[in-house]
Amino acid sequence: MGAPKENGRVRELIPRQDIERRVTEIAAEIDRDYAESGAESGPATAGTEPLICVGVLKGSVFFLVDLLKQIKRPVAVDFLQTSSYGAGTSPGEVRLRKDLDLPIRGRDVLLVEDIVDTGHTLQTVLALLQLRGARSVRLCALLDKWEARQVPVRIDYCGFRIANEFVVGYGLDFAERFRNLPYVGVWEPSE
Ligand code: IMP
Repeated sequence: MGAPKENGRVRELIPRQDIERRVTEIAAEIDRDYAESGAESGPATAGTEPLICVGVLKGSVFFLVDLLKQIKRPVAVDFLQTSSYGAGTSPGEVRLRKDLDLPIRGRDVLLVEDIVDTGHTLQTVLALLQLRGARSVRLCALLDKWEARQVPVRIDYCGFRIANEFVVGYGLDFAERFRNLPYVGVWEPSE
């Protein structure tokens, strides 16, 4: 969907407590799955290979931090950034603005994203990570705006499925505002 109108208010959609509960559930699921898939788990010790958790800047940062604090297996953290939403690009055109610092060849990678909307960003990023030779790539997204999907994207860990509305808070912004709201809300433009 296009950039929303400037004036309006935020209506709470997903309260802070619901986010916290869901983040705890997803962290437990991730620990369980990677333990089952043969990747080493348990507290960090020398010799254990960390799961590489990649946050897509900037929106995923709040979610990534809360999630990783609850994951018990060893993790490494890295970030990448794509061209921002509505910055003069057409929806299908995704550019890489900041690349990974860590090599991912032969490694398990968990991509952490705030929201999957049309799917173009994630489709491009997932393909890139595969191309780099990761052993496995899974996607964890806080929000799935499934009705807006234009290209298929498989979400392995999904926080909440939401309607096709413009949302802000808990990392998500409207023109860089509202990222620090502790909840997710719908941006409601004034008439
Ligand atoms: P996609 O490529 O259309 O799936 O868009 C993904 C990116 O668009 C997300 O990482 C967000 O940065 C941004 N985005 C999509 N929907 C929203 C929204 O409702 N609020 C804020 N940002 C959004």
